[in-house]
Amino acid sequence: MKTDLIKAGGIIFAPMEGVTDPIYRETVTEVCPGWDVLACDFLRVPNAGHYPKKHLIKHLGERFYNDPDWNARTMFQILTSPNAYTVEMVKQIQEVGIKWIDLNLGCPSNTVCKNGGGSFLLKDLFTLERIVSSIRKNFNGRFTCKVRVGWADGGQFSDTIKLLNDAGAEMITVHGRTREMMYKEPARWHWIEEAVKVSQVPIVGNGDVWSALDAKRMLKDTGCYAVMVARGALKTPWFPMHYYEGVQETPDVRLMMAQKFLSVYAEKMLASGVHEKGLVKQLKSVTRFIFDELPEGEALRRKVLLSQSTSNIFNEINGASLC
Ligand SMILES: Cc1cc2nc3c(=O)[nH]c(=O)nc-3n(C[C@H](O)[C@H](O)[C@H](O)COP(=O)(O)O)c2cc1C
Repeated sequence: MKTDLIKAGGIIFAPMEGVTDPIYRETVTEVCPGWDVLACDFLRVPNAGHYPKKHLIKHLGERFYNDPDWNARTMFQILTSPNAYTVEMVKQIQEVGIKWIDLNLGCPSNTVCKNGGGSFLLKDLFTLERIVSSIRKNFNGRFTCKVRVGWADGGQFSDTIKLLNDAGAEMITVHGRTREMMYKEPARWHWIEEAVKVSQVPIVGNGDVWSALDAKRMLKDTGCYAVMVARGALKTPWFPMHYYEGVQETPDVRLMMAQKFLSVYAEKMLASGVHEKGLVKQLKSVTRFIFDELPEGEALRRKVLLSQSTSNIFNEINGASLC
């Protein structure tokens, strides 16, 4: 199976609401190069009116928008619902010159699902078909979908994958959990394997890839075409070094990488005009997994969480010892 969206065996930095904004992604491209594809967190399709064009560009990030290579290697994710202005927004995305739309069919949040969006759409294949076809008909660029296995179970899963194929998705990411599983149970990779069997378009595997070894095991066990990493990428934004270069770092190198990543990120945030309170909140959120596997990682994570200022956070991070 071939696609020009990503090379076989490639790795995608997953969309994550509240994390993968342009500044975070810029930090990733500068400090942790090697990801084949990045993703924006979702942008909700409005139920009335439309976003100003500059809002769409801001969501992708000026730098990603203006760089033809990154524009074509960044999934611009949208989240829609049956009554939203999907066609209008898709046309607008095309007019603006954004190259890749990814449709979110996995978001489990109550607010999103109450409006009939995200994983709720997996319940109603008729509506799903209408939405996916309408996006395909109105967008000439790259178009992919990201799904969970189903709402309560995988009873409609094969039909969903076939439907997405027939309606024109060029690649499908499968997060191996149902909506009802939330994150409570481990991802079930056999669903990814099932999707590979029924799909004519490449399947990207997703769920519980925490290390380069996991990614390679997922490719081998499921036959998926590429791998998407979310929390594992928050833990190790420099994941491509492990995956492509086989680097196995010592704890002190790991700590140094985390320090460097976070200081570049904070510099960029400050340069963008983010205020102190916002930066503190953001640093707490992006460090949720980054100290995992350090000998005193859990304690460090707690100290960061209790910190009230950026300088406090960096005193803790830069003063951390490994014994
Ligand atoms: C903080 C956070 C935010 C997320 N936001 C999004 C999102 O905006 N769009 C999306 O498709 N999935 C989102 N997800 C789901 C992930 O992309 C991914 O499918 C899921 O975490 C399973 O992968 P993992 O086991 O590698 O974390 C989010 C996950 C996390 C942890």
